[in-house]
Amino acid sequence: MKQIFATKPLSVLLDEVKSENRLRRVLGPVALTSLGVGAIIGTGIFVLTGVAAHDKSGPAIVLSFVVSGIACVFAALSYAEFASMVPVAGSAYTYAYATLGELFAWIIGWDLILEYAVASATVAHGWSHYFQDFISILGVKFAPTISNAPFDFNPTTGLLASTGSVLDLPAILITVLITFILVKGIKESAGFNAGIVITKLAIVLLVIIVGAFYINPANWHPFAPYGYSGLSLFGKTIWGQTGPGGAPVGVLAGAAIIFFAYIGFDSVSTHSEEAKNPKRDVPIGIITSLILCTILYIAVSGILTGMVGYNKIDINAPVSNAFKQVGLVWAEFLVSLGAVAGITSVLLVMMLSQARIFLAMARDGLLPTKFFGDVHAKYRTPWKSTILTGAFVSILAGFLPLRVLADLVNIGTLFAFVVVCAAVIIMRKTHPEAERPFRAPFVPLVPILGIIICSLLMFSLPEENWLRLFGWLAIGLVIYFFYGRHHSIMHRLMKEEGK
Ligand code: ALA
Repeated sequence: MKQIFATKPLSVLLDEVKSENRLRRVLGPVALTSLGVGAIIGTGIFVLTGVAAHDKSGPAIVLSFVVSGIACVFAALSYAEFASMVPVAGSAYTYAYATLGELFAWIIGWDLILEYAVASATVAHGWSHYFQDFISILGVKFAPTISNAPFDFNPTTGLLASTGSVLDLPAILITVLITFILVKGIKESAGFNAGIVITKLAIVLLVIIVGAFYINPANWHPFAPYGYSGLSLFGKTIWGQTGPGGAPVGVLAGAAIIFFAYIGFDSVSTHSEEAKNPKRDVPIGIITSLILCTILYIAVSGILTGMVGYNKIDINAPVSNAFKQVGLVWAEFLVSLGAVAGITSVLLVMMLSQARIFLAMARDGLLPTKFFGDVHAKYRTPWKSTILTGAFVSILAGFLPLRVLADLVNIGTLFAFVVVCAAVIIMRKTHPEAERPFRAPFVPLVPILGIIICSLLMFSLPEENWLRLFGWLAIGLVIYFFYGRHHSIMHRLMKEEGK
């Protein structure tokens, strides 16, 4: 009992940062912000905006982006405070260990696999479809048997059906390529990322500037065809309209879907250990990347729904297709190329972050240290866990459908955000004296608002997500009680001290 609620002392965390076998400190504020933007702009804005506008929010998707953005800003301020206090690789996992105890830390670490590894698989899947779309413009095609997951979700029946394919080979290939780049090293990865981020931002600006000339204000009426609410409780709509299949619709329901578009700003905190000046630069990286993307998202979604009526938006490639619909084929070509590049960098940062979470958990003994904690002698990267992450992601992406994967990611991430907000409040109470180079403003109000909005969004997701989240956490608990609890460094220390 004592062990599972034992918290990891802040002093121990800070000593660890100074020890050997650490990652190289090479990242400055621009590189960190660029990693944030690299992780944020991707499948969410390029793909999910279509479903959200078409089925959940209509032109009021702009407000959905505002609501989700606000939830993320509150969470980001909490992340920034922690990242400046405890600049180690584990992000929310480490913050939970310092405040809520070992069991909770394990739960969050396990939950973060949903955020990073499963999101990577979702993104690899999206990448594959955009890539196939793009090469088809050039007249090249993959054989149908190797172009998709073997089964997929059928929205009309709500059941899984065979696609006639065997595996999604492009998704597997991109994952293998990214794994290779990541093993080589963070410096090369950050350089590779910066190049893609510039391309991606250029494409998003092109959408905004060129698209603005093709807005027809009539498309913004009605503004909120599905209403301004959309809140459900375990599958029962309690505020707002109910859509097909019993799922809630409206601004909040749309916000719960496009929340995916914001995931990634928190990954900046997993690079704290590689930051040159983590106490200053990590908060800058987190907050700047989030604010920049929020502004771009609101602009893109407003322009998109102005260019094309919400009920005519394409749900697979909404942004490039909008340019097709207004007759700008050259822009369609550039946008789909930009989407492929943009989604690649999301995959890069998400997979990078997953390996670092494993590293932090291994250092605490909750995962096998020899394997997950091994930093490569030459490249100074956690190469074994990077390769394992690559293998796991490529299997998920190659064989499981996008919808099933994406569903899991949002709820898992929202859960992590709730915990980080709560942890800030607890830490202020238990360690009021600790040095906080960045302080979240108006504590406890800001984290409390973060907890409330993130919880509302969790409730606006369809019911089965809760079941999957609980199922996943149950598997995690079994592993903890059979492995982590006995191998934990904390367990050993407590035994030595005779507690
Ligand atoms: N925010 C990331 C994306 O939209 C996960 O692809």
